[in-house]
Formats: sequence, structure tokens, C-alpha cells
Amino acid sequence: GLPPKVTIYEVGPRDGLQNEKTVVPAATKVEFIRRLEAAGLGTIETTSFVPAKWVPQMGDAEEVLAALGADGLGRWRPALVPNERGLDRADELGLTAIAIFGSATETFAQKNLNRSVTEQYAMFEPVVKRALADGMWVRAYVSMCFGDPWEGPVPIEQVVDTAERLMDLGCHELSLGDTIGVGTTGHVHRLLEALAARGIGTDRVAVHFHDTYGQALANTMAALRDGVSVVDAAAGGLGGCPYAKSATGNLATEDLVWALHGAGVETGVDLDALVETSVWMAGQLGRPSPSNVVRALAGA
Ligand code: HMG
Ligand code: MG
Repeated sequence: GLPPKVTIYEVGPRDGLQNEKTVVPAATKVEFIRRLEAAGLGTIETTSFVPAKWVPQMGDAEEVLAALGADGLGRWRPALVPNERGLDRADELGLTAIAIFGSATETFAQKNLNRSVTEQYAMFEPVVKRALADGMWVRAYVSMCFGDPWEGPVPIEQVVDTAERLMDLGCHELSLGDTIGVGTTGHVHRLLEALAARGIGTDRVAVHFHDTYGQALANTMAALRDGVSVVDAAAGGLGGCPYAKSATGNLATEDLVWALHGAGVETGVDLDALVETSVWMAGQLGRPSPSNVVRALAGA
């Protein structure tokens, strides 16, 4: 069955906006985060401490966090940190939750991190060590958990090896990234089983589906039935990844909330307020939300 309560890990301000063509001003991002908070999203990934030349959309991390003040800090406001330089920047602002992001495949490790799979561990290790010593909460993403646009289907053992390397550093949570949205429910089940067999149980696993093939919600529900209770989603279905060809938006938070509330699962989210937020953000971006639930409820 489904868990009684699901934690939604909102990635709209980060994964969503990082790939939008329209450069969103910091003040708009801050308003977006404020509106998400008001709609009941308890966990919000705010930004990334990466070089602006790699991801221009996240070039205003300091400005966004300065504007959020104390509300942008703490266990429920993580941000991406790839390396020690990124951790220095996060430390300076007083962040206490970060996410590292590894790749299960060589091609994406090169394109996204300018590193081989092996070299990525050397980059992440000192970050996680320092963060844990400072009492931070650390999430580890693994990208390309199902398929890779350059390499094709990704063997489950390869994903489990990557996840194990990152979790062995002491990370608190693992997020399984279906970066290009090619996963299907049976594959999700097999991957979760293989992780559990290596000691990474669903109590430490979150799922992160992009909706390229329309499978994100089905895959998420399958993972929830297997015991996962933390789900990544982006308001309005914003998003993608600038370094993965054929990556489109994340699972829309509204689609997830509609399905969960319909099944009697608690999320703490006010769906009407969230839809209103996504309609407003779509106006800022100058394009409609791809979420079916946003369209249905906004048009109603
Ligand atoms: P690099 O070029 O190899 O870095 O990039 P470097 O260490 O050689 O440094 C080059 C220059 O950048 C230096 O400056 C550094 O100081 C500076 P210079 O001396 O040339 O003036 N620098 C920094 N500046 C600010 N902040 C930093 C930083 N680090 C170095 N943190 C690097 C390596 C990892 C930095 C780069 O490849 C990178 O930032 N990659 C991240 C790209 C990214 O953000 N991708 C999107 C997020 S992942 C994703 O979306 C997937 C996910 O959603 C899950 C899924 O869907 O699968 C999470
Ligand atoms: Mg993503």
C-alpha cells in the first residue's frame, strides 16, 4: 500500500528554473519560494552553488539566499554543492543542508561535472566529510539511473555501485534521478530491490523523475508502494537539466499532490494555492505550465 504521509522535496526553484530560457530575476525566485512555502511545501531546494558560467540561471545564489534570510537556511532548505568551492559559498551564508550530485554514467559525468565517474568521488569526498563534520544534512543525487541519452539503458549494477560509493561517504539521503525520464515501473522496482539488497533501504531513498515520457507519476506511485516516502517534484512541471539532451521538466508537484490526496495520502500542500503559484510563474516565464493538473484546475 501507500504510505500515510509523503514528504515532497520541491525542486522547482533549482531544477525547474536552472533550465528555463528566460532568465528569472532573483526577486522573482524569492517570491516563487515564498509562495511555495505559503502553499505548504515544507522542503524546498533553493539554488545551486555552481559557477555561473556553467549554469547562468543559478548565478544569483547569494542574492536569493540573502533575500530569504533565516528562512532560506536549515534542514529543509538544501542547495546543490558540487565541490569545496561551492561548500565555502554555502558555509559563508550559513546553510546547513546540501546536496551533492553524482552520475551513474561516464558521458554524463564528463558533461555535467567535467570529471570521470571515478574523479567525481574524489571531488565529493572532501565536501561530504567537511559538511558532516559541521553537522550538515547531506543528500546524494545519482543521475542517469535508468537511461542515458548517449549510452542508452544503464545497468542496475552500475547505478547501485555509484549510489553505494556516495552513500558510503555518509550521506543521509539518496535521490534516484531519472534525468531523461525513460524509466518504467518494473525498472523502478528492480532498482529499489537491488539497492535494498546492498543495504540502501527505502527509508533513505527519494525518487526524482523527469516526465519526458509521461511516466513520472506512475513511477513515483510504484516507488511509494515499494516503501519510498520522499518524492522530488517541481511546481508546474518546470525544469530539465542543461547538460542532458532530451531532459524535460520534473514531475509536476500538482500532478503528484492530486494523485496523493485522491488516495488519502497527506502532503501538507494546499493544491489551489500551488496551482495559483504555477500559473503566476508561467506568466513570468511567458509559457503555459505543462502540468495536466495545473491546466485543469486553472481553467476550471
Ligand atoms: P570545472 O570547470 O572542472 O571546475 O567545473 P574547476 O574546479 O576546474 O574550476 C574552474 C573555475 O570555476 C575556477 O575559476 C573555480 O574557482 C570556479 P577560475 O580560476 O577559472 O576563475 N569554480 C567555482 N565558482 C563558483 N562556485 C563553484 C565553483 N567551482 C569552481 N562551486 C564543476 C567543475 C563541478 C564546478 C562544474 O562542472 C559544475 O558546476 N557542474 C554542475 C553543473 C550543474 O549544475 N548541472 C545541473 C545540476 S545536476 C541536475 O540537474 C541533475 C539532478 O536534477 C538529478 C537528475 O535529474 O538526474 C540533480
Ligand atoms: Mg533533475
